Formats: sequence, structure tokens, C-alpha cells
Amino acid sequence: MPGIESVSAGLTTSEAHFIEEARGHGELYIHQPYDLYSEANHEAWRNLYGRMVPRWERYANPQFLRGIGSLCLDPYRVPRLDDVNRFLNALTGFRAKPVSGYVPAFLFFDCLRNREFPTTITIRRADRLDYLPEPDIFHDIAGHVPMHTDRNFAETLVRFGESAHTAADLVAGIRDHDTKIHTLTSIIRAMARFFWFTVEFGLMRSGDELKVYGSGLLSSYGEIAHAIDAPEVQRYPIRLEWAINQAFEIDHFQPLLFIVDSFDHLFDLVGEMERWMKAGKLSNVAPGEPAVNEHDLESFLAKTG
Ligand SMILES: [Fe+2]
Repeated sequence: MPGIESVSAGLTTSEAHFIEEARGHGELYIHQPYDLYSEANHEAWRNLYGRMVPRWERYANPQFLRGIGSLCLDPYRVPRLDDVNRFLNALTGFRAKPVSGYVPAFLFFDCLRNREFPTTITIRRADRLDYLPEPDIFHDIAGHVPMHTDRNFAETLVRFGESAHTAADLVAGIRDHDTKIHTLTSIIRAMARFFWFTVEFGLMRSGDELKVYGSGLLSSYGEIAHAIDAPEVQRYPIRLEWAINQAFEIDHFQPLLFIVDSFDHLFDLVGEMERWMKAGKLSNVAPGEPAVNEHDLESFLAKTG
């Protein structure tokens, strides 16, 4: 029987009974039980959204701002994914797909290939807006999904998904077990780094200015300004060889960010990454973060058996 605390916790990060139950049953793909959101959950959304609007206007790329407009997100209540998807799907075929937690690497990329975006439905506590140990619905829906309304960006995500299939096929051909695991670990690490330095924390040239397109920045009140204004942040034109060999840490503002010229440029870089993968250049990238776990490896190995 759910206790009083679990009912009143609504769909709060790390406190949601509904999510614990889904995980307990091994359910990764779930639905959004909208009625479970508490008033505190809506308040968290309202406060997060309200304080980001002026920052988006100042720092976000124009495609994102158009996306926010075309999704008709409610500034006052946690959005219903069905409503979001109605607008999103008509534009690029993408849809937000609710999940109960961490999605192993191959499954995550495969969702992108199918124009599905694994989406967290819980929201951080209303009294801890800056504390974000894991993704929440504000990061996923307000930070990521507006980018998915842009056709070029959406195609780039699909290319990411296709390149994960290329990786799975590639390692399926490796007979020696240790070599297979080493190669796959390195490829997943390279892909995760490239994704991190672009989709999560990327900057883009916009005329004479730099704008933010990475969703980790677009959903962070403090870091979106830091990324553009702080003099100590290293901002460099992206080079694939740097992005795939560069470790990153998730628990502080990023000291190093990469700039793309456009989403066409980013799309081409994903193709280049895939060519490098086939040539073996991703098979021995520099060690370090992020860690690649067993579930990530198994998700790729299960694709081809
Ligand atoms: Fe994210």
C-alpha cells in the first residue's frame, strides 16, 4: 500500500512511488500518469520555466526559440506529453516517449533513430531548482524537445541513431571476446562524448554571436549564462578528434565547450564520426569519463545476438 509520503511526493525526482513500481517490474517504457503530479510539482515547473524565459531570449539559438513557440508549452503546469507530441509530431515526426529511468546506450540511440525521445516524467523538488542529479521532465521537455522541432536538428539525431546500428554491426564481426568488449567500450565512450559536447552542451555560431543549443545548458539557469559570458570557459570550434577524446564530468559547470557553425555542420560531423568508426578510429579513444556500464555494452551486443 502506498504510504502517505509517497502519494504526496507526486512525481518528484527520486521520490515517486509510481516510478519505483515500474522499475520493480522491469518496465522501462511507461505512460505519464498525469493526475499524480502534485501542486508542488506544478510549482517547480512554473518556477523553472518562468526564470528561464529571459535567459532563453538572451542566450538560446533561434531554432530553439521558434520551437518553444510552436510547442505551445504551458508555463504554469507540467506539460502533458500527448499535447507536446501533437505539435512536435506534425513538425518532424519526433515524439517524447516516457521512460522510468536510465536507458542503456543502444536503446537510447535506437529510439532516436525511430524519432522517439526517451523522456523522464518526474520533476525536481520545488525547493531545489538548481540541484539536478539526474534528468527530469524540465530538462527533457523544456531543454531537449524544442530542438526536435527543427528539421535539420531532428535529422542529426536520427543520424546518431543510425551510427549506433553501424557500431553494433561492426562489433558483431569481431570474434575475440576481449577485443570486442574493448572496441565497443571505446566506441560507446566516443559516441557519448560527442553527444555530450554537442546535443547536451553545444554552442552554435549565430551571426557575430554565440548561442546555446545544448540541452544541458538550455535547462540550466546558472550555466546557460556562464557558458556564454564567463571569461574562463574555453570555447573552441568543434574538432571531432577533440570531442571524442575529451573526458567530461557532470557535477560542475563545463570548463570546455565546442562550437558548431550550423546544424548542417553538426549533421555532417555525425557522418564523419560514423566513417571514423568504420575505419577503427573510435576503437581506442582516450580513457576516462564517461564510464560505460554493463547495460550499455549488453544493449549493443543484444542487437545482433
Ligand atoms: Fe539530456
